Amino acid sequence: MQNTRLDDFGKEFKTLVNKQLEWNDFLVQGKALLGELVLDPTWFRPVLSKLVMDEVFLKSQWLSIDPNDIQIYRDADKAFSIRAFIWEPSVRYPIHDHGAWGIVGAHINRVQEVKYERVDDGSNPDYAEVKAFSEAILSPGEITVVLPVNEGIHQMAAMDGKTAVSIHIYGSPVRKGYIHYYNPHNHTAHRMYPPYIDKKVLAIRTLGSVPEEWSESVLNDALKTDGPDFIKNECRLALEKIKR
Ligand SMILES: [Fe+2]
Repeated sequence: MQNTRLDDFGKEFKTLVNKQLEWNDFLVQGKALLGELVLDPTWFRPVLSKLVMDEVFLKSQWLSIDPNDIQIYRDADKAFSIRAFIWEPSVRYPIHDHGAWGIVGAHINRVQEVKYERVDDGSNPDYAEVKAFSEAILSPGEITVVLPVNEGIHQMAAMDGKTAVSIHIYGSPVRKGYIHYYNPHNHTAHRMYPPYIDKKVLAIRTLGSVPEEWSESVLNDALKTDGPDFIKNECRLALEKIKR
């Protein structure tokens, strides 16, 4: 997508990444850079008009885990990507973790962020206990940070009854393929995949709930094929359930 301000920002951010600073210095400088971008109200306007008016741009959006995730910039070396998240006031978005670090800035209207810590030991892949430990309301220009996996569990929400937009820079994931959605009421950890993989995972989990020879044989065959580790892991978990 041609967007001079965003392209310039992407190059500037790449220069920062290439400095390979200490983690805290990187975050301080990254937050300052993103802070300037999200305070500039002009550059995101063409993104919105393209989503509405340009079918090619609309269809170029790949189907990511979250339907409110708009991809707006991708570093050529995949060191980071920039996305806009659109938050609707009527939707309750899940508590979730991330596979990567992220720097997040409020851009249009206010957003709420509640940060959580995980207090169970993580030994059961489907179980989690999460506890809220901080809550903030971010006005346009204000920035928050998430770290990979258990260090960046949070929940975001639109405020004031208005649809809001935040801009997110995500690093290259250290855990690929899925994120967790957490339900603090029934203590579940749900591995959530992008839609094109999710149907496969749903089928694997169904097979894991049918303790019969044929379902076990499909899962064992799937384990022998070439595929990403996270799919094999789902097959292993399903086989464990069959054997239980
Ligand atoms: Fe997030």
